[in-house]
Amino acid sequence: MHQSMDLVVSARAAFAAASTAAELENAKARFLGKAGAVTELMKELAGLPVEQKKTRGAEINRLKQAIEAELQARRAALAEAELKAQLKAEALDVTLPGRRPAANGSLHPIGRAMERIEAIFGSMGFDVADGPEIETDWYSFTALNNPENHPARSMQDTFYVDVNDAEGRPLNLRPHTSPMQIRYAQAHARKYAGQASMPEIRVIAPGRTYRVDSDATHSPMFHQVEGLWVGENISFKDLKAVYLRFVQAFFETDDLKLRFRPSYFPFTEPSAEIDMMFGSGPLQGRWLEVSGSGQVHPQVIRNMGLDAERYIGFAFGSGIDRLAMLRYGVGDLRLFFEGDLRFLSQFR
Ligand code: PHE
Repeated sequence: MHQSMDLVVSARAAFAAASTAAELENAKARFLGKAGAVTELMKELAGLPVEQKKTRGAEINRLKQAIEAELQARRAALAEAELKAQLKAEALDVTLPGRRPAANGSLHPIGRAMERIEAIFGSMGFDVADGPEIETDWYSFTALNNPENHPARSMQDTFYVDVNDAEGRPLNLRPHTSPMQIRYAQAHARKYAGQASMPEIRVIAPGRTYRVDSDATHSPMFHQVEGLWVGENISFKDLKAVYLRFVQAFFETDDLKLRFRPSYFPFTEPSAEIDMMFGSGPLQGRWLEVSGSGQVHPQVIRNMGLDAERYIGFAFGSGIDRLAMLRYGVGDLRLFFEGDLRFLSQFR
């Protein structure tokens, strides 16, 4: 019995000396393992007489249980110490000031201008349409009454893609948003085909456009917004009213004038450039060109799949970058496309 007590004491000491789970398992083997001290005592039982076997056996069992209890206690203590150490290592100092997000993204000024344009025309009942930037020759030119080999095609000289369309002509990066007049009107005409009457077409189509051009006011990629209003009785005065309302809302002032200056586009007749003049502010008194426009040419109405005797309307195509430059007072168009955060963060 005495010897047994010693064994529990030395097991406790050995367990206490183990500072990791692995060390504790090693210490356990010395007492409870196959060649451990308790197992050795069990082996000695074999040689004892029956009566002694019983008492000695029970004694060894109690000893074993006592050592196991020591082991459990040490295991629990080690686990708790480990948890404490982990909590300490991962401690948060809740008294530190919070970290601000480095920078919130924001809408690009051109995107902002587009959203304004969509909202303003939306309020006047215009739908907003979106279409391909890679176009066929027919949509970019022919459908817009721009005959093959006509010099007017060079007004919108663009980039070509190394892939041909169904007519064997190279696909182009659309030089203007005008193809969307045709695409939208065709879909509209198809939708109401065979019906006695068709609701008016009233749509804008903002998006990217491409031309072989590059300087402070021209970029090879730029943005336009196309407008189209076609019905049975739509005239130039509607264009004037709609466009004036648009620029007034876009620039948030009634103190501006419009001028319609005769011009030429193959897809409108008559055609006009729209110039705008502010009555006050830094740009006061200068005519600024903001849009091409005109009454949709009857051939274009036919190419839309509509009866040119019945339907008439107007179209315009405005440079969004130009409008954004005027609204935000940006002098160089290229600033919009350089991705310089010092410039862009001013629009946050
Ligand atoms: N597509 C013409 C351009 O890019 C603008 C325009 C659109 C003119 C619609 C008239 C009507 O210059």
